[in-house]
Amino acid sequence: MTEEPLMPLASLPHLDTGIPNTARAWNYMIGGKDNFEADREAVRQLTAVAPIIPVAARSSRAFLQRAVQYLAGEAGIRQFLDIGTGLPTAGNTHDVAQSVAPESRIVYVDNDPVVLTHARALLTSGPLGATSYLDADACDPGTIITEASATLNLGQPVAIIMIDLLDFIESDAKVRFCLSVLTDAVVSGSYLAIMHPASDLDPALPAAAARWNSLAAQRVRLRSRAEVMNLVEGLELVPPGLVTVPEWRPDSADIAPAEPIPLYGVVARKP
Ligand SMILES: C[S@@+](CC[C@H](N)C(=O)[O-])C[C@H]1O[C@@H](n2cnc3c(N)ncnc32)[C@H](O)[C@@H]1O
Repeated sequence: MTEEPLMPLASLPHLDTGIPNTARAWNYMIGGKDNFEADREAVRQLTAVAPIIPVAARSSRAFLQRAVQYLAGEAGIRQFLDIGTGLPTAGNTHDVAQSVAPESRIVYVDNDPVVLTHARALLTSGPLGATSYLDADACDPGTIITEASATLNLGQPVAIIMIDLLDFIESDAKVRFCLSVLTDAVVSGSYLAIMHPASDLDPALPAAAARWNSLAAQRVRLRSRAEVMNLVEGLELVPPGLVTVPEWRPDSADIAPAEPIPLYGVVARKP
């Protein structure tokens, strides 16, 4: 959690602070300070509809951290492509990966200029590894691969990380295109980690998504278990497979949430 704003967001050019923004609202949900009243008010409205949302957002961050820990540890991955990075907070992908393997190389990708400014300043590597940042759209995966190859060796396995990203791409065809280009570009032994909010677990979440879509510029689309399973078709699921995020390899110290968390998490290996 950030205690103070990372930099004066309002000083950025062309920043519309009156409309809720995906990265800033998420930052507020996970306890950050890099957000505006419109973002906070949207989150308050969503939470009134679906009170689980702040708990779920923090549970998603914990899933990201456990997944990266697994990938850098047990799976031996040293290269990460984190798409839909969001505003930096504590426990970002490179923090976790480099705490396990300091030589890890991470490429962050987001299409939000606010994220870009923060990420360039704050997502900095330890001396043995590397981080770089791409201002690119997930729907343009060819550009992502071309530019990421300046930092990553695509002849070696890469973990593609998409935590709360694909729900901001409404079109199934675009999601399929993005995933097929990215997974085709990486070698066997690479991984894909996804967190995707569920349409079929908690009826309050679709209601909250509808509220978000009435307020924000970037629409969200929830997907069912079967739809999320389709995203990892052809890949080998790392046990326990596709589950809700707190169920994915919880740490022994983790306390199970009192209520089910309506977010799917999965880590899958390219055979
Ligand atoms: C909810 S935040 C998730 C942040 C981060 N992955 C995490 O787990 O904390 C979603 C991020 O995805 C980015 N995003 C949404 N659509 C995108 C797209 N088509 N291409 C690239 N980034 C996108 C947003 O700008 C935002 O920063």
